[in-house]
Amino acid sequence: MTDKIKSTILFTFIFMFLCYSFYLYKKSYDGTATVSESPADKGKRIWQEKNCNACHQVYGLGGYLGPDLTNIYSSRGEAHIKAFLQSGTNIMPAFALNDDEVSQLLAYLKSMDATGVAAPDKLKINYDGTIER
Ligand code: HEC
Repeated sequence: MTDKIKSTILFTFIFMFLCYSFYLYKKSYDGTATVSESPADKGKRIWQEKNCNACHQVYGLGGYLGPDLTNIYSSRGEAHIKAFLQSGTNIMPAFALNDDEVSQLLAYLKSMDATGVAAPDKLKINYDGTIER
């Protein structure tokens, strides 16, 4: 490749880079863009704020004071979960959540439940390392 071709390619790239940079900085932005949060997203935030993961696990990861909650939504249902949140137990604190927060937390637990089954003890590990239910 001759030097002339090399420098033509280089200047083409520099020109393209400058055009694209100019286009990006020129693009108008009115500052009104917002990120919309679904109820499940809000529920996840509550899960994090209340630190449920300190005592509970998701897919086996988390604290071990309470049970794994990955599939609690389908295995126990909403009323059971609400009862625990409102009343607590000797070990689990009663969280003073309002109705909106409870339904957001339920939406999060429902979405988590839909991602899969977390019961590694019930899985059968084959000799070749594959897993069966
Ligand atoms: C201080 C530890 C602790 C924290 C924090 C905690 N829990 Fe618990 N949770 C427990 C324990 C322990 C149990 C099991 C019941 C018992 O032994 O008291 C439990 C039970 C539950 C159950 C019933 C599980 C079942 O199998 O029936 C649900 C649902 C639950 N917790 C949800 C939550 C949610 C949601 C949060 C966060 C808002 C949370 N917990 C925070 C300790 C905790």
